[in-house]
Amino acid sequence: MKRTEAIELPAEEIARQRSWMREFAAIEDRPKTYCVVTYGCQMNAHDSETLEGMLSEMGMTPAPGREQADFVIFNTCCVRDNAQRRALGNVVWLKELKKTRPEMMVAVCGCMMQQPGMGEQILRQYPFVDVAFGTHNLYRFPQLMLQAVKSRRRVVEVLQDDEGSIPEELPVRRSSPDHAYITIMYGCNNFCSYCIVPYVRGRERSRSSARILEEARQLKAEGVKEIMLLGQNVNSYGLDVEGELSFAQLLAALDETGIERIRFMTSHPKDLSDELIDVMAMGKHICHALHLPVQHGSNRILQSMNRRYTREAYLERVSALRAKVPDISLTTDLIVGYPGETEEDFEETCSLVERVGYDSAFTFIYSPRVGTRAADMPDQIPEEVSSRRIQKLIALQKEITHRRYAGYIGQIHSVLVDEASKRDERQMAGKNEYNITVNFPGTRDLIGQIVRVRITSSGESTLRGELIETKD
Ligand code: SAH
Ligand code: SF4
Ligand code: F3S
Repeated sequence: MKRTEAIELPAEEIARQRSWMREFAAIEDRPKTYCVVTYGCQMNAHDSETLEGMLSEMGMTPAPGREQADFVIFNTCCVRDNAQRRALGNVVWLKELKKTRPEMMVAVCGCMMQQPGMGEQILRQYPFVDVAFGTHNLYRFPQLMLQAVKSRRRVVEVLQDDEGSIPEELPVRRSSPDHAYITIMYGCNNFCSYCIVPYVRGRERSRSSARILEEARQLKAEGVKEIMLLGQNVNSYGLDVEGELSFAQLLAALDETGIERIRFMTSHPKDLSDELIDVMAMGKHICHALHLPVQHGSNRILQSMNRRYTREAYLERVSALRAKVPDISLTTDLIVGYPGETEEDFEETCSLVERVGYDSAFTFIYSPRVGTRAADMPDQIPEEVSSRRIQKLIALQKEITHRRYAGYIGQIHSVLVDEASKRDERQMAGKNEYNITVNFPGTRDLIGQIVRVRITSSGESTLRGELIETKD
C-alpha cells in the first residue's frame, strides 16, 4: 500500500538526539578521539559519514589510527560470509588492544548487527564490545553512547522494525569536499533469493523529493561537483509514496539544479524505464555510466534468483540504452556458483558478458546467507567448482575491459581531479564521466576541478592521458 507522505522521524526526536550529543560533549571523562571502520557498500559508507557527523558534535575528533583511538566503531556488512568474517575478525583483534588500553570503547553497528540473534551473540561472545546497534536505530547512537558512558555498562539495542522511519537533519561529516552521497531511498523489497539485504535494511522507503532537491542545491552551493544518489534499487524510487516523483522525474529535476555531475546506484534491470533512458540521454549533468547488475546469464538461474527479468529482456534494455545513449559505460555484478548452476548455465553468463561488453564487473562467488531462500536449496556448488568458474570469468572480463578501454584512446574526457598519485606528486588522478580512473601529469592546484584530458593509453583498470585545458 502506498503511503501518503514520507515517514520521517519526528523533528523532536532528532532534537532530543542533538541535545544528547551536547550532553555527551560536556562530560569530562569521555572518549576524545574516534575511528570509524567501514565495511560494505556505499550505503554503509554514507551511514559512517553520519556517524562521524554525530561524533563531531559529541566533541570527538578523528584519531590517527584505530590503535590510538579512544573509541572505535565498526560499521559492518553481512552480504557475503567473508564480509562478515572480516568484520568480526577485526572486532576480535581489538580485544587484545583493549587489554593494554582498558579505557578504550568499542562499538559495532550496521547490517551484520541487524541479523536475528546478533544482539544476543554480541552480549554472550564479545564481552569487550561496549555498544551495539542495528541499521534501524543509527540515529539513536548519541543516546546509546551517553547511556554506556554514564552507566559504565554495555548497551545493546537492535530494533526489529522492518518499516524503519527516515531520519532527516542528522549531522554529516562528508569525506570529500567535491563528491557527496545523497540517500534517496532506504531498504529493498525485491528479495532476490540469495540476498540478505532486504532482511537487514527493511522495506523500501523513499525520502521526499523536496528534501533531496534541497540537499543537492545546498551541496552545490557548498562547492560540491558530483553527487551520487544511493538506494538498493533507485529505479523504484517514489513508488511507495502517493504522488511522489518517479526516479526519472527526480533525476530530471536534479539535472536542473545545475550540479556538475550526477551519478546513481543501484539500478535494478527490471525497473529500468524508457522514461529514465530518455532523461539520461537528454540530461546535461547525468553521467553516462550505469551500474546494471545482471547477476547471471541463464534464464533458469535468473528465475530461481527471483530477479524478475530474462536474459533477453536484459539485453533488450541494454540495446534500448545504447540506442539513445551510445557512449554509455556499463558495469555489472555477477554471481557464480549459485545453487544448481551447471556448466552450461555458467557458459551463459560468459556469453552474456561478451554480448554486453561491460567496462568492468564485480564478480562474486555465491555465499549462502542464513534465512534466505537460496541457502536451503539443494545442489550447493562445491568451492573448487566455483573458484574455477570465477577465475575464468575474471579472465574473460579482463580481456573485455582491455578492449573497451583501448577504445577510449584518442577521446577527450572530462576528469574530476581527486588527488596526486601516492607514488608521484606530479601525477594527478581523477574519475572521468564513465567513472574510470584517469591518470595524467599535472599539478596539485587542479584537485577539485573538472579538467579536460586526452586519453593516450590504457592500463588494467585505469586510463592515462594528457591535460588539454582546465574547464573551471
Ligand atoms: N541492490 C543491489 C545490490 C546490493 S548487494 C542490486 O540489486 O544490484 C551487491 C552485490 O552483492 C549484488 O549485486 C550481488 O551480486 C552480490 N551478492 C548479494 N548477495 C550475495 C550472496 N549471497 N553471495 C554472493 N554475492 C552476493
Ligand atoms: Fe539484494 Fe536483490 Fe535487493 Fe539488490 S535488489 S539488495 S540483490 S534483494
Ligand atoms: Fe553490506 Fe549492508 Fe551494504 S549487507 S552490501 S553493507 S546494505
